[in-house]
Amino acid sequence: MTDKKGKLPLILDGDPGHDDAIAWLLAEASRRTDGICDIRAVTTVGGNVSLDKTTYNALRVCTLLGIEAPIAAGAPHPLTADLMVAPSVHGESGLDGPALPEPDRDLSDLTAVELMAKVIRDSEDKVTIVSTGPMTNTATLLLAHPELKSNIEQISLMGGGLGFGNWTPAAEFNILVDPEAADIVFRSGVPLIMAGLDVTERALLEPDDFERIRDVKNPVSDIVWQWLEFFYKFHKKLGYEGAPMHDPCAVMALIHPEIFTFEDYYVQVETGGEYCRGATVADRRRVMDKAPNAKCIMNLNRDAFADYIFEGVRAYG
Ligand code: BDR
Ligand code: CA
Repeated sequence: MTDKKGKLPLILDGDPGHDDAIAWLLAEASRRTDGICDIRAVTTVGGNVSLDKTTYNALRVCTLLGIEAPIAAGAPHPLTADLMVAPSVHGESGLDGPALPEPDRDLSDLTAVELMAKVIRDSEDKVTIVSTGPMTNTATLLLAHPELKSNIEQISLMGGGLGFGNWTPAAEFNILVDPEAADIVFRSGVPLIMAGLDVTERALLEPDDFERIRDVKNPVSDIVWQWLEFFYKFHKKLGYEGAPMHDPCAVMALIHPEIFTFEDYYVQVETGGEYCRGATVADRRRVMDKAPNAKCIMNLNRDAFADYIFEGVRAYG
């Protein structure tokens, strides 16, 4: 976490995705207003939809949001498993809903892992990775470049859940897609901030919040409003009272940590198991002789969270 005085060099690694896009908006809005976030790279991974779609979406989202960092495509599929996608949540394009601008920039010639390595190696300050999709790129980076670990400040990730899953009773989508990658990340020794379902399912934007955003009437507000409407339509059928802002929690925890409660645990990823593949198992009773490897976010001030997303949208003029 930042002390809010220094800059926070960031790599945004995700599979956009409505909530990934809103997470990235928060980071760019912070760059524009308080100057905390400094986005050095955007990298994509196959997850919500295939890699070609998440990469196209990343180019369109960065065009819309004015994120000027290089963008590189990453892993098309998990380390060992077949790719599992989620069109029921995000639509066939991975970002269904409003029309988006066509990309006004090119993809980097580097792969995601090459770009991540270059950014981390060249940075004077330690770099934070914000991971909002399957952790395939990050795990590959850590395996290929263990020497760079010392220049990674932390990995702030949306994934898992200590109490429950969303794609199976035990597993959350991002971890379930690539448990082997998540296992490498959780064992890496790099400090982790884990925004799991425990908090992200409480980070609901409600219809009143959507309207407040729609009424901002700036170059991004109408699109964000329509993203929220689209994302909520799926969740409403499941009984949610708002749209769960899973991925924005991973950025918000860096720029407004004071609105969250954290508990430190040793967390392991289940890679086998008949029922529990992809589960994130936390040693909450401290029965293992292991130091915590993750700051797990357990709860939040929902109203403050909604206000800060609103402020993020307002940062666009
Ligand atoms: C996660 O899965 C994806 O559908 C979302 O973008 C988020 O990263 C929530 O389980
Ligand atoms: Ca995501």
